[in-house]
Amino acid sequence: MTKDAFRLISPDGTETALPIREGTVGPSVIDVGKLYKEQGVFTYDPGFVSTGSCESDITYIDGEDGVLMYRGYPVEQLAKHSTFIEVAYLLLHGALPTAAELEEFDNTIRVHTMLNEGMLNFFKGFRYDAHPMAQLSAVVGSMSAYYHDEMDASNPKHRDIFAHRILAKLPTIAAAAYKLNIGQPFMYPRNDLDYCENFLQMMFAVPAEPYEIDPVAVEAIDLLFILHADHEQNCSTSTVRMAASSGANPYTSIAAGITALWGPAHGGANEAVLDMLQEIGTVKNIKKYVDKAKDKNDPFRLMGFGHRVYKNFDPRATIIREMCHKVLKQLGRDDSPLFELALELEQIALKDDYFIEKKLYPNVDFYSGIIYRALGIPTSMFTVMFALGRSVGWTAHWREMISDPHVRIARPRQLYVGPAQRDYVAIDKR
Ligand code: ACO
Repeated sequence: MTKDAFRLISPDGTETALPIREGTVGPSVIDVGKLYKEQGVFTYDPGFVSTGSCESDITYIDGEDGVLMYRGYPVEQLAKHSTFIEVAYLLLHGALPTAAELEEFDNTIRVHTMLNEGMLNFFKGFRYDAHPMAQLSAVVGSMSAYYHDEMDASNPKHRDIFAHRILAKLPTIAAAAYKLNIGQPFMYPRNDLDYCENFLQMMFAVPAEPYEIDPVAVEAIDLLFILHADHEQNCSTSTVRMAASSGANPYTSIAAGITALWGPAHGGANEAVLDMLQEIGTVKNIKKYVDKAKDKNDPFRLMGFGHRVYKNFDPRATIIREMCHKVLKQLGRDDSPLFELALELEQIALKDDYFIEKKLYPNVDFYSGIIYRALGIPTSMFTVMFALGRSVGWTAHWREMISDPHVRIARPRQLYVGPAQRDYVAIDKR
């Protein structure tokens, strides 16, 4: 939808009318597509602070009011009433499923959980201590070699098969990575179990004895997957879109997204939060670390605090904090010193002028690690858990982008600040 134009006047007085485009809700955008052609200049916005990269109808965030909606549904409602599989359907298809559609979708995911047996050889090649995120990105990338039969991106049926394979097989790959790290036998998926139950049995069961699935763990993981499922054009999702915009294989594009997610400024923060809390150790050390975070000459940041978009609160953090209370209570660990420390750190930081002025609030990663830890999931697997939830968002964005007839290769411009033209100097004259 377009309305009035935004008038840009150059220093020499040339005027360009830039169309303003309005979304359903949220800020409008100025379409600068013709700026270079008409004015000979590019826009400059490192980190894309004011730049929209695409049109999307998947997820909406209002960072000022702490709103997050998937396909128009507030995340609080989905967290309360839905399941991860239903949310996955919603993100992929744009509407909540009927009971029959949900059953069919659920069954389809269940029957795609096994990996091509040859892929298991990959795990034999990694060192026993290979980080599970390194394994995940490499093995997901290798899916391009194993599943290229039905991968014509212009074919809607193939796009569906791709989505099902990503959603169904990532937990199997993630659990295999963990089993390699701890030296236990790989557990095959069980298709009689639901999504999260199956993941837990692949992670924690061993062939030698029966494994009882804890419903508290299932509920918590399902919720965390829902809350991580999508977050519009974040770093990893933009990476998936950018890689795939060249027509690259979608499995390798997802692998690129996994790599982007791993960074501590993004999904790697949940692992970094736990490391930080362990380093802080006790409540009496909090002030020292808050002071370090405020010191411009110290690179230390409070991990799990701050967000590019949320400047009031992160609605996901609020829901996760509640779940954290519930899980620890049900597991009889509500006296967890780490949780006490996190609660106290949050309170101290929220009252501190530095964090108030810069609008730094706990983000989704601040409490998720405490839940994972209570469930016995090791720190190195935290970002993998994030990737499992986000895989559906990446896939939904890939499908949206690839089905858009106007999609073009993503190709930003730059401000060149290197040397102007100069002549080559022979080596003996330098
Ligand atoms: N601790 C201390 N100071 C901080 C923090 C923090 N966690 N986060 C931001 N600041 C300060 C910065 O130093 C900067 O100060 P300045 O204006 O005086 O230079 C100001 O707040 C703005 O920070 P930017 O880094 O410019 O904000 P940006 O939007 O680029 O970064 C980010 C957002 C990466 C999330 C940042 O807040 C951060 O590094 N947080 C810690 C890591 C983290 O928790 N990441 C997870 C994010 S959620 C997710 O991806 C799932």
